Formats: sequence, C-alpha cells, structure tokens
Amino acid sequence: MPFLTAKKLPSTFRGGFSAISLNVINRQIIVISGSLRKASFTTAVCRALVKQMNETHKTQAGNNIEFVLRDYVRELPTYDGDLDVNPATNPDTQTPPAVVVDFRRELSEAHAVIIGTPEYNYNVPGGLKNVIDWASRPFAKHCLIGRRIGVFGCAPGERGGKAAVEYLRNIVPLLGATLVGPELLFPKINSLISPDGNLDPSVLSPLTDMANQLAN
Ligand SMILES: Cc1cc2nc3c(=O)[nH]c(=O)nc-3n(C[C@H](O)[C@H](O)[C@H](O)COP(=O)(O)O)c2cc1C
Repeated sequence: MPFLTAKKLPSTFRGGFSAISLNVINRQIIVISGSLRKASFTTAVCRALVKQMNETHKTQAGNNIEFVLRDYVRELPTYDGDLDVNPATNPDTQTPPAVVVDFRRELSEAHAVIIGTPEYNYNVPGGLKNVIDWASRPFAKHCLIGRRIGVFGCAPGERGGKAAVEYLRNIVPLLGATLVGPELLFPKINSLISPDGNLDPSVLSPLTDMANQLAN
C-alpha cells in the first residue's frame, strides 16, 4: 500500500516560506538477511545497503522508492503444512497465521527483493530456507512469481558463501522469479565493515549497482 512522506524543501520565496512536497512511496524493495545473529556480518551489510540506497534516492525529485530491511527469518514460524492454506489436504484452514499473510502480501506488492545470505554447511541457513518455503506456497500462485530478485553472499571465509548463493541463484528462476545481477560473493567480510557499519567500496559498489538495477 502506498504511503506518504513529507519533505521540507528550501524556500525559493522572498521572506523564507518553506514548501512541503509529498513523495508517494509506492515501490518498496524488500531486503532480507539470512542471519539471526545480532552481530551478523550479513545483516550489517544489508543495513548499510538500505541506508545508502535510501540516502541516495531521497535526494531525487519525485522519488517513490524505499528500501526496507525485514526480519522475516526471525518472525515466521517453522513451515507447517497444517497451518497453511491447502484445500486438498487441510479444508479447515481458511488462512495461514497473520504474520504469514502479511509477509506474503508484502512480498507480492514488492517492487523487488534482495536476499543477503551467510553459508551454513554449504547451503543457506535453515531460517532463510524456511522463509523461501513459506513464500513458495500456494504452489504456482505464490508471492515470488514475477518478482525480481538479487542475491549476495557474505562469509568470513575464503569462498564468500558461494554454495549458498549458488543455491539461491538456482532456485529463483525455478520459483518463477527473475534473477537480477551477477554472482555477488563477499569473502573476508569481517574485514570489510568498519566499526561504525560502513562498507568497504569493494562491497558497497557492486551491491549498489545491483540495487540500482532492481530499483529501475
Ligand atoms: C552451523 C554453521 C555452519 C557454517 N557453515 C559454513 C559454510 O558452509 N561455509 C562458510 O563459509 N562458513 C560457514 N559457517 C561460518 C559462517 O559463515 C559465519 O559464522 C558467518 O559469520 C555467519 O554469518 P553472519 O555473520 O551473517 O551471521 C558456518 C557457521 C555455522 C554456525
């Protein structure tokens, strides 16, 4: 649902009137971190990307796009078909839990999605897989169909989460979504984030390129 943000503009009038311009934010890019850890490198990268993109976009006239970081990995219950809508096997269930309804609606309305992931045992963490599982139902009518999705991997190790990113890059088209951007892997990520959360340009630059592609 679109919402309004008010921005004070410098006055061009003699006497110092200030004008209010209303920006209608009707395109959201949802950013999802695959990690739950408070000190997560992946979430730190997601946070810095969101901040950078919103700062850049808010200065543009007529901006109607906003990047938002979501904590779906924490918020969603573990996937359970008995909680989900499935008239064939579960005729009593009219709707899944409210948090799932909101999650699916938000994704279905999103302009695009960015997923940042660590690698756990050569795949995405279980919590992120759970997010994908909820998103992927009802079969063939789900909220990822037609979405444009960019993915990236972070790891303190040498491979930058390659196996997790390969998994995501394979599954995105299989789910009827469109993969946007190159394979983005950020090895040694622990050395590329400053204590105040700023990203090394070798991380920020390719990420903002992908985010700008998704914003268009
Ligand atoms: C259960 C578990 C499995 C892991 N498996 C891998 C792995 O397969 N490849 C890898 O590069 N790092 C692996 N790691 C290390 C993580 O990449 C590292 O903990 C990273 O900081 C987690 O991401 P975060 O900082 O965003 O939470 C694993 C860590 C855990 C806890």
